[in-house]
Amino acid sequence: MSSNFLNPVNTQTWTNGRHLVRCVKVIQETWDVRTFCFMSDQPIMFFFKPGQFVTLELEIDGQQVMRSYTIASSPSVPYSFSVTIKRIPGGKVSNWLHDNLTEGDLLPVHGPVGLFNVIDYPSDRVLFLSGGVGITPVMSMARWYFDTNANVDMVFVHSARSPKDVIFHRELEHMASRVSNFSLHIICEKHGMGEAWAGYRGYLDQRMLELIAPDFLDREIFCCGPTPYMNAVKRLLTANGFDMQRYHEESFGATPADVRIDVQELAELAAGEPDVPLADLNQVEFTATGKSIRVGPRDTVHSAAAQLGLHIPKACGMGICGTCKVMKTSGEVIMEHNGGITDEDVAEGYILSCCSVPQGDVVIDY
Ligand SMILES: Cc1cc2nc3c(=O)[nH]c(=O)nc-3n(C[C@H](O)[C@H](O)[C@H](O)COP(=O)(O)OP(=O)(O)OC[C@H]3O[C@@H](n4cnc5c(N)ncnc54)[C@H](O)[C@@H]3O)c2cc1C
Ligand code: FES
Repeated sequence: MSSNFLNPVNTQTWTNGRHLVRCVKVIQETWDVRTFCFMSDQPIMFFFKPGQFVTLELEIDGQQVMRSYTIASSPSVPYSFSVTIKRIPGGKVSNWLHDNLTEGDLLPVHGPVGLFNVIDYPSDRVLFLSGGVGITPVMSMARWYFDTNANVDMVFVHSARSPKDVIFHRELEHMASRVSNFSLHIICEKHGMGEAWAGYRGYLDQRMLELIAPDFLDREIFCCGPTPYMNAVKRLLTANGFDMQRYHEESFGATPADVRIDVQELAELAAGEPDVPLADLNQVEFTATGKSIRVGPRDTVHSAAAQLGLHIPKACGMGICGTCKVMKTSGEVIMEHNGGITDEDVAEGYILSCCSVPQGDVVIDY
């Protein structure tokens, strides 16, 4: 790209929406993690709140698929942004991206969005806790504070499976070596044959946390990692009387809603639970396509659509990203979302179909 391409004076800035971006660089971070860097053909300053994410819109085997990925880069380097993606064994999109997405490819992204960020929860003493690829949002936050010379005292604690799995290891060490307000602690569950490791070993526990951050009760905590990791952190904090208003987390890996339903149904079948009585079934009508179906009391609007062969786009499956938003024109649902919809949208009648369970008959404009 020509050096005349970028002009900081009249460059547009990014706003939440659908944007076409081009992959400009692919970086192998560890053996199963890659960073993909993106820019826009028309220069854009990619401003966002560190910790937020984008949803990639892809076409795989002729089908549209969406997945959300945290922006791991920092808005302090605004001409491009990057996502850092780990291969999930058997995972459809993560493996496809590793195997297919290369420099020069153009793709639509939606965002940036997300409540898990350091702009909405400012603090001058933070504790970043991450496990595995959950490092991405806290890395963006740390890079932001580091690049902007923020007067914020950071303790960065990262748990990895083994030394070869530590993502951004050299950059983290570089940051820790440059400033006194960035204290780095890496914990490895185990280490392989011939792999030297002088740092913490095992899992983060009370004793380790007290050694690493004796003042953890006074810090704003940002945590991201596998569900068992985050549950263990929450148990540890509540046992110590931590003010959970100051605890913020992001989850990547919940089992998608329709998988959960299948598992529940299988368990019920195994337990010999009788079929749901007809009176307990809810009618879900999709007016734009003229289809309707009666579903069980735990089925979501999204799974009702899927059973009819209707493809409502879905990414996170847990009410974070907003991809599955549809208009409900009548009826009631219980929507257990995680910040993926605004109060204004709810007031207008929109719901997130992935996490909305009908309470009686409902009509959806889809
Ligand atoms: C807000 C948000 C931000 C995210 N940020 C990142 C990021 O920065 N980097 C990143 O690599 N991923 C991130 N993810 C996860 C990502 O969206 C995908 O879920 C992940 O890449 C797996 O997709 P897949 O299509 O490969 O797997 P799928 O084909 O969807 O799933 C395959 C199997 O793996 C399980 N699974 C799905 N995700 C995980 C997981 N994370 N860990 C273990 N098992 C899993 C599923 O339950 C399923 O059984 C984020 C998710 C959300 C909601
Ligand atoms: S798919 Fe993300 S909110 Fe429903």
